[in-house]
Amino acid sequence: MSEKAVLNIDGKDYDAPVMHGTLGPDVVDVRKLYADADVFTFDPSFTSTASCESKITFIDGDKGILLHRGYPIDQLAEQSSFLEVAYLLLHGELPNAAEFTEFEHNITYHTMLHSQFDRFFTGFRSDAHPMAIMTGAVGALSAFYADSTNVDDPKQREISAHRLIAKMPTIAARAFQYSVGRPFVSPRNDLGYAENFLRMSFSVPAEEWKPNPVMTRAMDRIFILHADHEQNASTSTVRMAGSSGAHPFACIAAGIACLWGPSHGGANQEALEMLETIGSVDNIPEFVQGVKDRKYKLMGFGHRVYKNYDPRATVMQKTCHEVLDEIGHHDDPLLKIAMELEKIALSDPFFIERKLYPNIDFYSGITLRAMGFPTNMFTVLFALARTTGWISQWKEMFEDPGRKISRPRQLYTGAVNRDYVAIDKRG
Ligand code: CMC
Repeated sequence: MSEKAVLNIDGKDYDAPVMHGTLGPDVVDVRKLYADADVFTFDPSFTSTASCESKITFIDGDKGILLHRGYPIDQLAEQSSFLEVAYLLLHGELPNAAEFTEFEHNITYHTMLHSQFDRFFTGFRSDAHPMAIMTGAVGALSAFYADSTNVDDPKQREISAHRLIAKMPTIAARAFQYSVGRPFVSPRNDLGYAENFLRMSFSVPAEEWKPNPVMTRAMDRIFILHADHEQNASTSTVRMAGSSGAHPFACIAAGIACLWGPSHGGANQEALEMLETIGSVDNIPEFVQGVKDRKYKLMGFGHRVYKNYDPRATVMQKTCHEVLDEIGHHDDPLLKIAMELEKIALSDPFFIERKLYPNIDFYSGITLRAMGFPTNMFTVLFALARTTGWISQWKEMFEDPGRKISRPRQLYTGAVNRDYVAIDKRG
């Protein structure tokens, strides 16, 4: 294993140390390159750049592996619970029984929102996209907790993390209930995390709400599958915002804004809408031809890191079947279209050559729709779960003694120095 890389510029050698992780490719440390050689490195979309050191999540995109703190995602999804995974991401180890009880108490203790906070929701138009509401509402949370604004205090950081994980289901459920014109439902702290969220989302005053263990388990598993995903666009946004010392709730609001885009978390909504547009298995060949002609993308396919089957998609597909079986929709026409589309795409050279495989969003939309969520809520559920990853990554950043404000540089290609010309002298 080499310990240094040598860059030759204009005949002069510059050494750059090579860093080794526990898994994954080595990293060439270019931090001193500008000071030593007066050059920047150029990597606009970060395709070859490690933006930080992290111990939280590892992805091997070629092999389709996803580990949280070393544990494979399929084991966590099958055997763990979302709150246990949240503890693992935040603290680095699975909790023992006493640690878990304390953590669960800390989360349920913070599930309520300040009563004044509800006014924020009614300030939005009733047809507002719930992601717009989430971005605004989570940012507004920072106005309510003046007792935890010191990001340099580990205790205050921990309280902020607990508050965020606890309040996201309450906020997300309110965004949903508001958009469908139903009254807000208060959290119940005797219920588990996923069950409480489903109750806050679907119960109405006119009827007693009955939990369904299959739906509760599916919701919990969907949260686990979305909990963290290394240095993706929204996580990097949260780290970047946090690097200035900004309030954590404001940083998470920035992450939610980034997640909304269709190339990222917004893809689950677009994937389902795409299946609805295709409408029938008979229309798939024409649709696939449109993808090859670059008229549109196959949503729910492809990934910057995975060049193999997304391991989350495997679990998601299983969960999808469980939910559809539970509600007696095994013949769901959208599932049929999805499975046929996947079969065709996985055997077509266009997709094989580009290593385009289904990602988590391909089956999550069908599942969430079957659970009763409208399409515009899909990305909200992603944001709810990913908040755990975002805040764990934010916490890790603050625990790094070498933390500095993030400040990328650029390759400037604009006008060179020129003199100002008064408006009456311009041509
Ligand atoms: N459908 C058709 N062609 C595709 C797709 C797709 N979904 N994704 C990539 N390609 C093609 C792309 O046109 C390019 O072809 P060529 O080399 O001939 O120009 C090649 O594959 C490489 O693509 P790329 O754009 O360089 O890949 P990227 O790493 O920049 O993009 C991506 C990754 C996720 C943005 C992209 O695959 C995509 O837009 N997929 C659809 C949206 C989606 O499902 N996003 C959810 C990602 S998983 C959830 C999350 O993490 O947020």
